[in-house]
Amino acid sequence: TNFSSFGPLVGAIDEGTSSARFILFKAGSVEEVASYQEELSSIFPQEGWVEQDPMRIIDLVNTCINKTVDELISKGGKVTDIVAVGITNQRESTVVWDRTSGIPFYNSIVWLDVRTSSTIEQLLDQVPNNARNKNYLKILCGLPLNPYFSGVKARWLKDNIPAVKKAMQTGNCMFGTIDTWLIWNLTGGVKGGKHITDCTNASRTMLMNIDTLKWDPVLLSFFDLPSSILPEIKSSAEVYGRISSGPLQGVPISGCLGDQHAALLGQMCLSRGEAKATYGTGCFLLYNTGVTKIDSAHGLLTTVGYKLGPNKPTVYALEGSVAIAGAALNWLRDNLNILDDFKDAERIGKEAESVQSGEVYFVPAFSGLYAPYWQADARGIIAGITEDTTSNHIVRATLEAVCFQIRDILDAMSQDCKLPLQRLKVDGGMTANSLIMQLQADLAGITVVKSAVLQSTALGAAMAAGSAVGHWNVDSSAINIPSRTWYPIYTDDERDVKYSKWKMAIERSLGWDM
Ligand code: G3P
Repeated sequence: TNFSSFGPLVGAIDEGTSSARFILFKAGSVEEVASYQEELSSIFPQEGWVEQDPMRIIDLVNTCINKTVDELISKGGKVTDIVAVGITNQRESTVVWDRTSGIPFYNSIVWLDVRTSSTIEQLLDQVPNNARNKNYLKILCGLPLNPYFSGVKARWLKDNIPAVKKAMQTGNCMFGTIDTWLIWNLTGGVKGGKHITDCTNASRTMLMNIDTLKWDPVLLSFFDLPSSILPEIKSSAEVYGRISSGPLQGVPISGCLGDQHAALLGQMCLSRGEAKATYGTGCFLLYNTGVTKIDSAHGLLTTVGYKLGPNKPTVYALEGSVAIAGAALNWLRDNLNILDDFKDAERIGKEAESVQSGEVYFVPAFSGLYAPYWQADARGIIAGITEDTTSNHIVRATLEAVCFQIRDILDAMSQDCKLPLQRLKVDGGMTANSLIMQLQADLAGITVVKSAVLQSTALGAAMAAGSAVGHWNVDSSAINIPSRTWYPIYTDDERDVKYSKWKMAIERSLGWDM
């Protein structure tokens, strides 16, 4: 096939927690022309610590770009057709590096890492009137005090790594989430690299004011971090700079969003009231609340959905974050050795249903529970085991756990927004398992709609990048994505009985790590 007839192409770098990929889309369409993906591993130096090598991340992204370009050329396409590149990334993971040498002071501290639990305790002591209220800063940044967010990780680095503290004092330290680290390196690094982030990534640091989209002096002083470390906050769609070397030299980087925000775009959740859940390492449900910022009274995060240009409106979202989704399947495979291949989970889960007394509940709170609980001291629990319980029941309980966690979030959303969600758009690796999707419909009592575009996250980044250079019209009618739909079959009674058991299991997992 001669792809040169496709005309303008837009690339998307999707740097996730477990893999990186680069995809070339035909501008304005969901059509993928070439792509390459490779796994990314994490380092676990101590219990609860999760790190990645920032240099490895840059190498990996460059490999993905090079291999994709090779594929494009082998198909007869032209590199000069690539008009823009967008970036989307695992959020919150934090890198600090030396302004003069460009070398990181430390590994990236990955979002899942909970080493900062003691930093949180210290910060809670700073809340006035001895209130120790974890929602103290929520009015400013939309987030509760929790090890998850970047500002807390940056504070840990300052307190624990002497070189970081010193560089912060002398102005030689640069801070960034993965988007910032990538943009700075791709646009030249020490030779003129742009120190930039977008407002969706910045909204996960606890350092940005959620109303003004600017770094907030009150937040910086609460965390005791200097403003000299910070990148400039830009919208999600504008030209940030040009790629400085390699096959894409000169191509503008013109889109940037955190991966969950990009998936919101890629799933066409462009109107108020639309929501998507992405089932990856964790699971993240984002609900578009339009230009209105909603403060959750039920444990959800207020976050920037997207802002598609410097003069475009800021679209907000409510987010329910689940730390452990696909990661629980990894645990069954790698730690318990009761699952050879993720593909088997569907068959095993179905087999478990036909056996009586399979009422096993598993709360995979490996490193605490995120929304709506925000309890860093929760730990995993398996409840309801009898002598008839088999490993198959544990596999099934794992699949159900993912769905119950989403039910927790949907309940919180309907309380905050007063209008229960009618349908949930889903994407991500676990949606290949149709048992999980049926369980999601049943256990949450909601219609579940799967997008035919598997790479919604990358698509969202391409949409932003393409729109900034006039090659993509981001409009819900522009792309009609066919889908598969699951409807609830359980009766309300069946659903309620199971959910109350889940809540009992949750109660037992909270506060375990005292
Ligand atoms: O907040 C963390 C999230 O952005 C990570 O997403 O898909 O890499 O698990 P994922």
